[in-house]
Amino acid sequence: MEAIESQILRHLSSSPSASLNTYTFSQSLPSEYGVTHSAVLGCAKSLAADSYVTTSSNKISYFQLTSEGTTIAKEGSQEAKCWNAIKAAGEAGLDKKALEAAVGSSVAKVGMGNCMKAKWISKNGDALVSTVSSITDTVQTHLNLVLSADEDTNGSVLPAKEFTLLKKRKLVKAVDRTSYDITRGPAYKLERKKKAADFTKEMLDSGAWETTEFKPYNFATVGEKVGGGYLHPLLKVRAEFRKILMQMGFSEMPTNKWVESSFWNFDTLFQPQSHPARDAHDTFFIKDPAQTVSVPEEYYKRVVKMHEEGGSGSIGYRYNFKEGDARKNLLRTHTTAVSSQMLYKLANQPGGFTPKRYFSIDRVFRNESMDATHLCEFHQVEGLVADYDLSLGDLIGTIETFFKKIGITQLRFKPAFNPYTEPSMEIFGYHPDLKKWTEIGNSGMFRPEMLAPMGLPENVRVIAWGLSLERPTMIKYRIKNIRDLFGHKVELARTKTAPVCRFD
Ligand code: PHE
Repeated sequence: MEAIESQILRHLSSSPSASLNTYTFSQSLPSEYGVTHSAVLGCAKSLAADSYVTTSSNKISYFQLTSEGTTIAKEGSQEAKCWNAIKAAGEAGLDKKALEAAVGSSVAKVGMGNCMKAKWISKNGDALVSTVSSITDTVQTHLNLVLSADEDTNGSVLPAKEFTLLKKRKLVKAVDRTSYDITRGPAYKLERKKKAADFTKEMLDSGAWETTEFKPYNFATVGEKVGGGYLHPLLKVRAEFRKILMQMGFSEMPTNKWVESSFWNFDTLFQPQSHPARDAHDTFFIKDPAQTVSVPEEYYKRVVKMHEEGGSGSIGYRYNFKEGDARKNLLRTHTTAVSSQMLYKLANQPGGFTPKRYFSIDRVFRNESMDATHLCEFHQVEGLVADYDLSLGDLIGTIETFFKKIGITQLRFKPAFNPYTEPSMEIFGYHPDLKKWTEIGNSGMFRPEMLAPMGLPENVRVIAWGLSLERPTMIKYRIKNIRDLFGHKVELARTKTAPVCRFD
């Protein structure tokens, strides 16, 4: 590249009006250099960009012989070959088979017809005989004329209609070539100096910046996009859910702690210590520290009593509560562990209980086998309302209001079981895309066995519900596999381009 550039500049140095044509120039270079016309064109464009040269483009059309045309230019046309063979056979002539044997079937196929048309031969029974004493092979002559003419001007060696004939027989083809005519430009110099794009420390140190030529700034150029950080689709949906719940008067629970004790995660929720969910197959237990150091003492005793003996109208589970099991640390399996702590605090705050609406949206962990719809961790949206004399109707109404705001208007409730709620209801929503009812959440009224040990007034009821954040996000963003939403296989580009989330 460099070398061609300086050769062009040297070429123009002979006189101010010196000029060259890129094509002619590229042809004049020894072929072993392997310099193509397009390489010369590239140099010319680059020089023109810095005004070293001025270019004007020059488009010409010329003819090139096809490979068949080249053969005919050398050996003669099919019709000439046929006539020669027939003529050589004398008065008896040749039948079609013999002609084909003499010149080849493809030559015979084209040549025979052309000979007839030119009236060089006629039919005598089955035989083809010559009717003239000599012929002129104009096709061959014309092709040679084109071949020997200067490429740039070969379009004028024959009348247009002759070219049309040759093109029809696919013996020549028209080619376009654009080249540049180059003359000196306003900034012409024999040597090209690359302009500097920026100041460097070295230029400043040596003082070279004073004589260095700099590229002008291009103020019209579009700036590079600034990647200012992007919200993951889950976080976009979370932000929207958060807004909806805040508008409904809920305040957010502090869920920024993933490790809990079994006490808060299970025992305070009246989940018996023999419950299968408390197995290592379902729950990730923490090895170090394996045990929690503190639980609220008085409350702990009341929880133990409720499990062992019951109270508030319940007969309890009637087993020996183990402190060791209660103190086991784990990765919380649900954010209900936090709800439990918040309700305990609410019952014991100075001045006593006041009605409250709480929500949280955060991560939970379950020791499950993973597939397209399950991971070991997911996000839970949890809501609860604690107030005097709430009923199941309040729960259904609150859930309906919330889901309506996220675009799910058709809901069904199915009786279910949770150790900590009674009654419990699974929430089903009609999915307009899938056209079917799908389970979207779980809900219920917290049991007296859970609320009484906390010290909540007897007629305070707590309604609560939970759902995953992943499911509505996958529906919203039409993501089929959960691994495309969360985890190490997620494509960053997807996060960068995911549209904003709106529910309205
Ligand atoms: N903790 C329940 C779950 O993990 C959700 C839930 C919350 C159910 C509150 C009832 C009440 O599925």
